[in-house]
Amino acid sequence: MERFVDLKSYNTFGLPVVASYFSLISDTSDMEALIADNVFQESRKLILGGGSNLLFLDDFFDGLVIQPQNKGWEVVDEKGNLVFIKVQAGTDWAAFVDEMVDAGYHGLENLALIPGKVGAAPMQNIGAYGVEIKDCFYELEAFDFQTGKIKKFDKDSCDFGYRSSIFKHNARGRYLINTVTFALKKQANLNTSYGNLEDYFTKKGIKNPDIKELSEAVKDIRRAKLPDPTFIGNAGSFFKNPVIHQLLFDDLLKEFPQIPAFPAGTNTYKIPAAWLIDHAGWKGYRKGDAGVHDKQALVLVNYGNASGREIFALAMKIQLDVKKKYGIHLDPEVNII
Ligand code: EPU
Repeated sequence: MERFVDLKSYNTFGLPVVASYFSLISDTSDMEALIADNVFQESRKLILGGGSNLLFLDDFFDGLVIQPQNKGWEVVDEKGNLVFIKVQAGTDWAAFVDEMVDAGYHGLENLALIPGKVGAAPMQNIGAYGVEIKDCFYELEAFDFQTGKIKKFDKDSCDFGYRSSIFKHNARGRYLINTVTFALKKQANLNTSYGNLEDYFTKKGIKNPDIKELSEAVKDIRRAKLPDPTFIGNAGSFFKNPVIHQLLFDDLLKEFPQIPAFPAGTNTYKIPAAWLIDHAGWKGYRKGDAGVHDKQALVLVNYGNASGREIFALAMKIQLDVKKKYGIHLDPEVNII
């Protein structure tokens, strides 16, 4: 276990946060040793994947940061068209997706180039371009801090929702996700229905994209819109897309006839938070080193030396303004620590 570790390179906002304790975990025996340690028992704990979906408010984290290091994947079963892939929590998500695409295993290609580690993916049921991991999730194994044992979760017990799971709510902080198993398909229809993708293929004159062309399209679109955290600190979408009632939507349409909306259940619509923020005039806004990305209004950025509190203050200003202009509450998607 290390002491006083700078987490700047461990969080994609690039915030210089010092953690009092930091421990890398490679296997169950490391975990068992850690649990037996006094520091573990007495400290506030934070499990860190790629640090790509969190915002530290302070420059000191008085607690223990645990980062899984176990990497790699294997085929654990095959049934007809299905292939079951078990992947270790510390594996880089984007590299794993590329390997699945190269192997011709279908299901994750729309989730290419998302920063982070595999173990963090089920936490918030990561999603992009019309696909969420719950669509091909099979099960996961997690280390239970309370019992000291490994517990299996099938899809139902993860309680996946839009950018959410049991690990973000009822079971928050209790488990360390150790492995995730996906049920991928050898043959499958590709999901090219998300608006941007159709436009992309039409422009490129690609009629029937294959799995590789689809994942390349997703990567191209992401690169064009989303800032690369290696160069500009960010944690992807800062807020979730809100779901509103038909009555509010009807009212809003009178004032904002161009407001985009996607049906999401009975009498409810999902509204792109990016549109609300953009049309409230925040896109490209900058105060000090905290800003709103100029190509995607849902992404808050750290141009260099913003503090966690400055980024948070900007988020709260946007939240207030959106509420005032549209009567819609924006819920942060990023974990605030
Ligand atoms: N829009 C604007 N202004 C902008 C950007 C977008 O008005 O600056 C409007 C457009 O109408 C556009 C719509 O918002 O059609 C949706 O934008 P986009 O397709 O970029 O997706 P999003 O809803 O903003 C979600 C996810 C992203 C994911 C993309 C693509 C959430 C919170 N975000 O963003 O996920 O990559 O769809 O599927 O659901 C993340 O979670 O960190 C993330 C990047």
